[in-house]
Amino acid sequence: VAKLLGTRYPIVQAPMAGGFTTPELVAAVSNAGALGSIGGAMLPPETLREAIRATRALTDRPFGVNLFAPLEPERPSEEAVDAIQGLLDRFRADLGLVRPAEVPSPPPPGTVEAQLAVVAEERVPVFSFTLGVPPLGPVREAGAVVLGTATTVGEAVELEGLGVDAVVLQGSEAGGHRGTFRVPFDQGSIGGMALVPQVVDQVDVPVVLAGGIMDGRGIAAALALGAEGVQLGTAFLTCSESGTPAPYRQALAEAGADSTAVTALLSGRPARAIRTELLAAVESSGLEPLPFPLQGLAMADIRAAAAQQGYPELLFLLAGQGVGLARRVPAGELVEALAAETEQALRRLAG
Ligand SMILES: Cc1cc2nc3c(=O)[nH]c(=O)nc-3n(C[C@H](O)[C@H](O)[C@H](O)COP(=O)(O)O)c2cc1C
Repeated sequence: VAKLLGTRYPIVQAPMAGGFTTPELVAAVSNAGALGSIGGAMLPPETLREAIRATRALTDRPFGVNLFAPLEPERPSEEAVDAIQGLLDRFRADLGLVRPAEVPSPPPPGTVEAQLAVVAEERVPVFSFTLGVPPLGPVREAGAVVLGTATTVGEAVELEGLGVDAVVLQGSEAGGHRGTFRVPFDQGSIGGMALVPQVVDQVDVPVVLAGGIMDGRGIAAALALGAEGVQLGTAFLTCSESGTPAPYRQALAEAGADSTAVTALLSGRPARAIRTELLAAVESSGLEPLPFPLQGLAMADIRAAAAQQGYPELLFLLAGQGVGLARRVPAGELVEALAAETEQALRRLAG
């Protein structure tokens, strides 16, 4: 995987949409010998181009950009929107907000195609995708190494058939949205321990494991299972260069292995996040979430104000089950520590 990616270590900093993967974070990771990745899914095409150029100004090493497959959100009824807004108004009052006239619009049709064109034009070395399969032609023609996200054996086999260079397997431990695209979400909820050996027996392309990996012990375990690389998200959220807001960092520091849940109630699509008051309130309301990504967009004003005013309980705190092991260090130091710990773990096992 390191050879494929052009890195020293087969370690990928997970792309994380939502302002976490600053150019400083991505470049620090790449400069330290792992693969930094821009979570580009929520960035308008020209903002994505700026992020790519800003990253390139800070590193001459390979890095990646990640996008989602095109979304076709259903239109919710006015009653459904009103019911959710009514529930959220309680939190708006606490934050001194008034309900916006409209739920912010999702990206217009054609956005992913325009983002893909930017990735191709900017000759980004590594392209990865999740939540389905976007059109791969432009990035392939531009010579990018292509990584696709799978959560089941069948999805991994399908991605191999589509010609990806490696499969990122997202175990159920993982923080963030479930990448499941071919089966119901509960069927795609498989722990890495069970998933990796069954996938590597079925596909020839290398497998990169994501989910709950926080240190060299986890990396050595992934390698023992047959993965050839690892992708870590939560571990990089607490790095000094990441864009994680202060109250989010506080919640990560206080969270442990039992703090997270997979829920569709905060965005409309199942995602692993730290349980919060906001989640409990939506849960106890019994309301169905609006379709992805509208449920999250309906809460965007609350999240922004809560981040600014310092209320972690009103944030969407995506994090994996390994969150109790998160450390507050610069990203380069984390990469070095991960590499050293992995060697140590492998030596210990070799006796
Ligand atoms: C805050 C956050 C945002 C994420 N956003 C993305 C994304 O935009 N694209 C993607 O492919 N994966 C995304 N993921 C999932 C990661 O790629 C990866 O599967 C996950 O972080 C691995 O689990 P871990 O967090 O326990 O390391 C996100 C994860 C987190 C924690």
